[in-house]
Amino acid sequence: MEERLPQLRAELDASFCVVNGENAADGVGITPKLAARILAAGADVITLGNHTWRRNEIGPYLSASEQVIRPANFSPLTPGRGLTVRPAADGTPVAVINVLGSLFMSPAISMFERIDQLVAEAQEQTATIVVDVHAEATSEKVALAHWLDGKVTAVLGTHTHVQTSDARVTRAGTAALTDAGMTGPHDSVIGVKAELAVHRMRTGMPVRFEVAEGGVRIEGAVIDCDDSGRARAIEPVRRSFP
Ligand SMILES: [Fe+2]
Repeated sequence: MEERLPQLRAELDASFCVVNGENAADGVGITPKLAARILAAGADVITLGNHTWRRNEIGPYLSASEQVIRPANFSPLTPGRGLTVRPAADGTPVAVINVLGSLFMSPAISMFERIDQLVAEAQEQTATIVVDVHAEATSEKVALAHWLDGKVTAVLGTHTHVQTSDARVTRAGTAALTDAGMTGPHDSVIGVKAELAVHRMRTGMPVRFEVAEGGVRIEGAVIDCDDSGRARAIEPVRRSFP
């Protein structure tokens, strides 16, 4: 990312960039140092997910940060925020909301209970709203995109690490993609050295996972929207690097 994101941002003419960074620290969680490096590489906002708390030092950092957010449907007793508004390159405020699905996750409350209030809060500040729905189940992500149709600019899924082929823009002007995919080594089992992941699955024995190295790609999506926050187009991004 540090090598390729600045060039890719310029090439795609991206005026705002959101990165899901919850696997940045050797596959699980993120540290303040890594967050700073991702922001320096060209991210405007970093979202997180189920691995948010894996690194102890992230709590105080999230309390102070306006650029790194965690799922909004975590307990209100945890540090950080799940909604932020930051300026795009042309000054347009962009709201980013991060929520966590329910299947195999443990959100304090359902994202569906929190999302209306979050969108209303965002709408008070801007019409351009991006939702990162970090979830295992495609059905939950598709359902959220339906619920938010016409209310937000984009609903983008993360967590499964496998980019889906359902990029679409609805008639009401919401772009959606069930999973944006993975930036990392694709010669792997979703980022982990394949032999280690396979060994654990075959035997059920504990195995210390290591991050793989080959087949590095940047994956994501580019959304084009108008001044009123309506999406006009969505294009999945999938770039391989030798
Ligand atoms: Fe995740």
